[in-house]
Amino acid sequence: MKKTLLVLTLLLAGSLAACGKSQTTPQTSTNPSASTSPAATQSSGGATKADAQTVFKANCVSCHGVNLEGAVGPNLQKVGSKLSKDQVSTTITNGKGAMPSFKGKLSDDEVSSLATWLADKK
Ligand code: HEC
Repeated sequence: MKKTLLVLTLLLAGSLAACGKSQTTPQTSTNPSASTSPAATQSSGGATKADAQTVFKANCVSCHGVNLEGAVGPNLQKVGSKLSKDQVSTTITNGKGAMPSFKGKLSDDEVSSLATWLADKK
């Protein structure tokens, strides 16, 4: 009888320990709020493109066109085959010719996602 109790206790302890472990998992999934941010960051990796397009629409379409077809500024549809990401971000940051500098107007993140997005246009 005592042995059974002991076994039961051990089993209980074991399942409690397992419970403790599985509580760690919920904790990780309690972090969804926190792990949503990584997920959001990840999907903003995908959404980086959307962001870039949003930033582009807000700042660049007037000169480069909604479809990058160009207007006052040159066509950017194949800018990635001409300029590297670094060159694009330098152009955005410092401006070039008739293009204004966006230093201080756009965050580093915005510039870099724009540059990544544009450097992909080949
Ligand atoms: C006021 C008009 C204007 C705005 C606004 C503008 N650009 Fe430009 N952009 C130009 C002009 C003009 C050039 C050509 C500069 C030169 O080569 O002398 C240019 C050149 C560029 C180039 C280099 C293209 C190449 O073929 O060398 C890139 C990249 C670029 N712009 C990206 C952007 C981005 C991104 C934005 C928004 C953050 C933006 N531009 C906003 C006018 C503009």
